[in-house]
Amino acid sequence: MDAIRNIVILTGAGISAESGLRTFRADDGLWEDHRVEDVATPQGFGRDPELVQRFYDERRTNILAAEPNAAHQALARLDLEFGGNLLIVTQNIDDLHERAGAKRVLHMHGEGLSAWCLACDARHRWTGTLLDGPPCPSCGEVALRPDIVWFGEMPYRMDEIFGALARADLFVSIGTSGAVYPAAGFVQEAKSHGARALELNLERSQGSRWFDETRLGPASELVPQWVDELLGS
Ligand code: NAD
Ligand code: APR
Repeated sequence: MDAIRNIVILTGAGISAESGLRTFRADDGLWEDHRVEDVATPQGFGRDPELVQRFYDERRTNILAAEPNAAHQALARLDLEFGGNLLIVTQNIDDLHERAGAKRVLHMHGEGLSAWCLACDARHRWTGTLLDGPPCPSCGEVALRPDIVWFGEMPYRMDEIFGALARADLFVSIGTSGAVYPAAGFVQEAKSHGARALELNLERSQGSRWFDETRLGPASELVPQWVDELLGS
């Protein structure tokens, strides 16, 4: 087999589940007690900004209380020790990849600990509430919203991501249900350019048939095993 030089890893809520952060589509998932249309669309924010700010205030609090697990740590080790090009693309809004030590992470759905000013376009690291209408530290306007990509909005960094998918020898999907595009289509994109595709998930994802190999189990076990295999240790 040719040496693997370029890897793209896509992560979803499942990789942070064992850190205590709820996934979206599980029986007790976030979309069970919140309507997507209300809390994760620009229209919902327009109708009831308080409800949306409260929802993301809670996400922020939970992110700050969570710790990276063995899966985040294994990917950080891979990022450090893999000699080729590695890109972690995450749909997650938590910062657990970074806190584990990973350097090359793209947040395609935004970041929970970031606030975006609709008046001046500045972004600021944000760890407190957005509910009481704090002014933007850059322009002073009260126009901050969560820096989250909502349904109906363009995910971030798509040019870079598609560039990396086109060069990938290996595409690995971890802890995502494959329910939301464009992330759900990355496996086909990578494969159309010749990549091998591996899925690590608790259960088969919706796009499971596209993968060359699927390993089922908790990310905290599967990811360290796979990283050890890849690094040959
Ligand atoms: P889609 O899956 O075809 O596309 C969603 C787009 O929005 C993608 O580009 C995606 O990357 C982006 N996006 C925006 N906010 C996001 C977020 N918070 N998380 C993930 N991706 C996000 O969906 P669509 O055609 O835009 O339809 C969305 C509608 O689908 C929603 O309004 C909702 O009614 C429904 N939906 C329901 C559930 C559920 O579990 N009940 C889940 C997802 C979507
Ligand atoms: N280890 C591995 N996989 C797990 C674990 C675990 N410990 N726990 C759950 N999973 C798997 C589930 O089986 C499921 O397939 O993780 C997946 C999580 O799927 P979703 O809840 O749909 O989350 P995700 O795929 O990240 O959602 C995509 O939808 O609404 C948006 O903003 C949201 O970015 C998110 C996007």
